[in-house]
Amino acid sequence: MTRSTRSQAVEIAEEYYDSTEADAFYLNVWGGEDIHIGLYDAPGEDIATASRRTVETMARQLGDLTAETRVIDLGSGYGGAARYLAATFGCHVDCLNLSRTQNELNRKNNGEAGVTALIDVIHGSYEDIPAPDASYDVAWSQDAILHSGDRPRVLDEINRVLKPGGQVIFTDPMQADDCPDGVLQPILDRIHLETLASFGFYRSELSARGFKEVAVSPMLDHLRTHYTRVGEDLQSRYDDIVDLSGKEYVDNMLRGLQHWVNGADKGHLAWGIVQFQKAA
Ligand SMILES: C[S@@+](CC[C@H](N)C(=O)[O-])C[C@H]1O[C@@H](n2cnc3c(N)ncnc32)[C@H](O)[C@@H]1O
Repeated sequence: MTRSTRSQAVEIAEEYYDSTEADAFYLNVWGGEDIHIGLYDAPGEDIATASRRTVETMARQLGDLTAETRVIDLGSGYGGAARYLAATFGCHVDCLNLSRTQNELNRKNNGEAGVTALIDVIHGSYEDIPAPDASYDVAWSQDAILHSGDRPRVLDEINRVLKPGGQVIFTDPMQADDCPDGVLQPILDRIHLETLASFGFYRSELSARGFKEVAVSPMLDHLRTHYTRVGEDLQSRYDDIVDLSGKEYVDNMLRGLQHWVNGADKGHLAWGIVQFQKAA
């Protein structure tokens, strides 16, 4: 993948997440904390509650998080996970994120939650992490790496900034390992990407970098429930969200959500929690 393609993907993601329409939409649907797929106890469950459960589950999977643990959250959005990790375990978290609009709210929310001293909010791209080698015990990311135009480079960067024995844990909307060619084009076109990753891709790329698999948990049903719930929520507050984000944005979003639901129904997609450990 060429430098210009990579930059283009980064530019598109930055412009999208900084836009007033997108910001208003994400703030409204998730309430300014999380913007990722939830783990649902029941199909009609509240989006924010389910989304918080994903953060709690990932933290539980990591185990011994303490005040000594240094975490980087790659594509941190509004920083909800960082606030949870800082407030619950006292971890220090660097939030690396491309959207200045989201970063501003992240800093404001950290101040209100009294965790500013534990969280640094950094504008930048996970394709060029602005940190020295071996800086972190944990690299954390939720539903963000899909936006990269050069995922092997993101994994190189994760490998570089993790300490020996450090762990990477992330979720990512992906394609199924056996997904037929071309069927996901409507999804790719909408988010302006050439490809999605897959569990097989992450397994082979991370093992090629010497990482050991800790846990890979496929949970496509939650992706389906999540995009269905977001669509329902949007329909039920259609006029209010159109006032904030515009009719074109909301109608496109509804169409886009349906593509994800259809892709999940056909088994062409994948989603879940991936956890690997860097060699000690
Ligand atoms: C679906 S949101 C998830 C946000 C957050 N991880 C969460 O779970 O709430 C995707 C995020 O990826 C960020 N992002 C996209 N491309 C990025 C890049 N190249 N470097 C850093 N962040 C990026 C966006 O700014 C956005 O906040």
